Amino acid sequence: MTIQWFPGHMTRAKRQIQEKLKLIDVVFELLDARIPESSRNPMIDEIVGAKPRLVLLNKADLADPEANVWWGEHFKALGHSVLAIDANTGTGVREIGTRVQSLLQEKIERQIAKGMKPRPSRALIVGIPNVGKSTLINKLAGRSAAATGDRPGVTKGQQWIRTGSGLELLDTPGILWPKFEDPEVGFRLAATGAIKEEVLHIDEVACFVLRHLSAAYGETLRERYGLSELPADIPDVATAVPVLEEIGRRRGCLGSGGHIDYEKAAGVLLRDLRSGKLGRITLELPGDPV
Ligand code: G4P
Repeated sequence: MTIQWFPGHMTRAKRQIQEKLKLIDVVFELLDARIPESSRNPMIDEIVGAKPRLVLLNKADLADPEANVWWGEHFKALGHSVLAIDANTGTGVREIGTRVQSLLQEKIERQIAKGMKPRPSRALIVGIPNVGKSTLINKLAGRSAAATGDRPGVTKGQQWIRTGSGLELLDTPGILWPKFEDPEVGFRLAATGAIKEEVLHIDEVACFVLRHLSAAYGETLRERYGLSELPADIPDVATAVPVLEEIGRRRGCLGSGGHIDYEKAAGVLLRDLRSGKLGRITLELPGDPV
């Protein structure tokens, strides 16, 4: 998957979401808990407007538990209702129904006052590719309702998916684009697998990850790869390369002539990070420069 967003794509994606907004009561803004800011579309406020919104920090199982709390506070301070969830196992997902009820309480009470029978609340999930939209739809639906994997442009007729807790979901999520302008954001997106290595070179992504891990999770890194020495600060590629080399040596990532294959070593590091083998890691904190 290579994502390349051009202004035309953005305008189309924005229009498609805004058309769907007319049909729904509440938006679920799905973010990656490991990179909540970098996985957030910068124009989301403008796109969603006044529609009630629930911010969902997905893949919270892979993110640092302490950082999940900080991010929760951050979004609350911005005035949002927010939940950390794991769409794969369903942790936190049951709480969504309760949150929707409290977000829409006034509207529901108005309907009751008018003698109307409240209908199920209707929701749309929006988020960047690979953030877990299909997985969450499946989890909420309780069956395999949406194909996982991202297939923009093949949306069939609009369908509603009934979920247990008085909630109906649009079966096709709204696909948002991440912001690419800042290289750090690009590295975070690549590190988590939101954009593939064709966009940014794997060695560079690995060096970015080493820089972050050495500063915030040095002990984890040392333990996992049995590193003898780890610089406290990895400010640039030149400082990162010897560390990547040692990881490669320890993991037997050898190329022709017995030289360390940096790409293989970078692949080991990124796979370990994405699968959670390096532990629960968050790649940005509230207030970090973007
Ligand atoms: P999308 O519709 O937003 O594009 O995302 P999708 O549901 O296809 O999920 C992308 C990948 O993320 C899937 O892995 C899925 O299992 C994983 N995922 C989704 N939610 C969670 C979560 O809360 N925790 C964890 N740990 N993983 C989650 P995949 O099929 O292996 O795809 P890939 O990782 O090889 O791209």
